[in-house]
Amino acid sequence: MLRHLIQPLDFTTTEFEELFRLADDILLDPIKYGDICNGKILASLFFEPSTRTRLSFESAMYRLGGEVVGFADAKVSSTAKGESLQDTLRTVENYADIATMRHPKEGAALLSAKAMNRMPIINAGDGGHQHPTQTLTDLMTIRHYKKRFDNLTIGLCGDLKFGRTIHSLVRAMNRYENVKFIFISPDELKMPKQFKDELKEGSYEETSNLEDAIDKLDILYMSRVQKERFVSEEEYIRLKDFFILDNEKMKKAKEDMIVLHPLPRVNEIATEVDSDSRAVYFEQARFGMYIRMALIIFLLEIEVEL
Ligand code: NCD
Repeated sequence: MLRHLIQPLDFTTTEFEELFRLADDILLDPIKYGDICNGKILASLFFEPSTRTRLSFESAMYRLGGEVVGFADAKVSSTAKGESLQDTLRTVENYADIATMRHPKEGAALLSAKAMNRMPIINAGDGGHQHPTQTLTDLMTIRHYKKRFDNLTIGLCGDLKFGRTIHSLVRAMNRYENVKFIFISPDELKMPKQFKDELKEGSYEETSNLEDAIDKLDILYMSRVQKERFVSEEEYIRLKDFFILDNEKMKKAKEDMIVLHPLPRVNEIATEVDSDSRAVYFEQARFGMYIRMALIIFLLEIEVEL
């Protein structure tokens, strides 16, 4: 059956768990998976800049023995000639077996998926909306360090208005028992109401003070102020350094709190924090490739024995 991953709720928590198990197995024995995608092609369609997501998807496909076609810049695709997104994707469907796409417009991945007859679409970020494969990466990291998804207090700090990784992560974590969210942002960048409305009664609080919240957290998810989504440059400059996590603030945190960040980082985490054993954001980026390998295998419906 043709499946897409446009937002986290497209997969059940059981399917997520299958993906984590598969990713764990790939991590343990990568050679076993080295030619599982022989003859398959991934289309990597990036209409917006990316480092980790694009390179981890492309490396994932190569490591599975598949091939990659695509572009990393919308200017070099026929969109620049005025082609519609659906037409581009319908064309790509003739060449590739699976596609990952990032686009500045909210809803772009869903629109593309609706035009597909046989090619699974993976949303690698649609504007300020959703970023489900970053969520899989985040969850795999949480699972590794915390061994559970329930009974956790998670602080989400920074740009909660435009941060698509945050929107997706909160939506996914809301499915587990007794998860508490603390939304930490300046007033201008608060979590949008539409996402808060989805949450369980009494499961979140909001503050603009990181120092007051940090000692309650099991997980601190830092994020960059999303410069490219601002209309006013002045407003961006005013808000960009609102939160800076440094060693001083880390002193107040629990000893087993973990710090996640989807990256890229700008100033919101001082580099001095990198050597703190609770800072796991680079490890998080490493997990991203393995979970994407698992996702490609899953969506291509390739049978594997664990
Ligand atoms: C994130 C994104 O693109 O939304 N980056 C990523 O995929 N790791 C976060 C960001 O750009 O701030």
